[in-house]
Amino acid sequence: SPKYKNIVQKLKESLPKDLLDLIKKIGEFADEFGVNAYIVGGFVRDLILGRKNFDVDIVIEGDATEFAKKVAKKANAKVHTFERFKTATVVFPDGFRIDFASARTEVYKAPGALPEVDMAPLKKDLMRRDFTINTLAIKLNKKEFGKLIDFFGGLRDIKDRKIRILHSLSFVEDPTRILRALRFATRYRFELGKHTEKLLKIAVQRKLFKTVEGQRIYHELKQIFLEDNPLRVVNKLAYYKVLSSIFPTIVWDKKKKDLFERIRKVIIWHKLNFQEKEIRYDLLYFGALLIGQSFQKIDTYLDNLSVPEKDREILKEILLKASYLLKEVNKERKNSEIYKLVSRFKEEVLLFAASLTEEEWKREKILEYLKSWRFTKPAVTGDNLKAIGLKPGPIFREILNELKYRLIDKEIPEDKEKQLDFVKFLIKEEEKYAKR
Ligand code: CTP
Repeated sequence: SPKYKNIVQKLKESLPKDLLDLIKKIGEFADEFGVNAYIVGGFVRDLILGRKNFDVDIVIEGDATEFAKKVAKKANAKVHTFERFKTATVVFPDGFRIDFASARTEVYKAPGALPEVDMAPLKKDLMRRDFTINTLAIKLNKKEFGKLIDFFGGLRDIKDRKIRILHSLSFVEDPTRILRALRFATRYRFELGKHTEKLLKIAVQRKLFKTVEGQRIYHELKQIFLEDNPLRVVNKLAYYKVLSSIFPTIVWDKKKKDLFERIRKVIIWHKLNFQEKEIRYDLLYFGALLIGQSFQKIDTYLDNLSVPEKDREILKEILLKASYLLKEVNKERKNSEIYKLVSRFKEEVLLFAASLTEEEWKREKILEYLKSWRFTKPAVTGDNLKAIGLKPGPIFREILNELKYRLIDKEIPEDKEKQLDFVKFLIKEEEKYAKR
């Protein structure tokens, strides 16, 4: 029988007030609608671990799409429903999202799977999940709001810091869980349960990855590369021979580990300085894994993993252009020349090149470009050029660019008047030249 515990206090301490109010409302609404509603999975796990996670997944014992539509209507929110899976996403006016799923009652039919008896829909739903730590649920209905539901010993395993599967066929049913187990173990510094570790090793030995669609493996690899420290996960992948079973020709040696470490530093630097959501940090690590392989081999790997075209393009640029760029950045070149060279490349290429080089000064030049050169603007504007009698035309761009280069090389001062003097000097030189 499940153990119950009330964790209202934890919810109050950990959630912003408006989120707490929102989930209470959803609970009250579930009462009105005559269904049971639960928050499940990662949110609950991270709540107990004291880790910030506002990805709210709600399971409804009943029709989640109907329920979500009603919630959306009441909250003036948008709703996307997926009738085939009976799931829905509600997007609230402030952009906050909540996913709703219907407790699925169909159970995986495999020899040795857990017996299908009369079971609460929630329990059946949770039974299909990967690890015990992901099977916790919190009831939202008013009378039992905050009740922690733990059918499979998830709370105990969080306390014991263990990753445990729910049943012996878990890795066979879904081999991507091998990657997930090692990712979670690394993230939380948990160990694999003894039995779980044994079954994981067997699953790797039996090359179960071969049976999985490539894109599902790629999805999990991507999640690994988006973790705080992918190096530590890949160390585990190598230890359990998962890496060599996916990438037989890739050698996980000191050189690659060092590269992973430098990439992490560069990413931390970049995130600290800029909040660019679009940057594909994950592909820097993937590039680091692939670099050194022949292009034919790389293509085979990318084909096998069904890597999407957009990702392939960025990866190709990273792998083809970063080394070229590093060769071109040399001590003979002025900063403005490095600027001109470097500004032609995608940000991912620059971040990869900055990580790839073992020459500190090269890394610094590239980071200087990202941090300041690319934002350099002369004090002089087009209007100022008009004011001194110049006729607008391509010459404006040329002059302003020239000023920018001189600023980057620190050859002219920041002062506007002095920059204008320099422009006048440039024009005179031009005229002299034209007369000759
Ligand atoms: N799940 C599973 N098997 C998989 C993938 C997911 O059983 N191969 C289950 C897990 O129990 C998980 C839930 O589906 O709790 C949602 O998956 P996901 O969003 O990937 O997991 P989170 O636990 O939210 O992980 P993260 O913190 O990395 O977002």
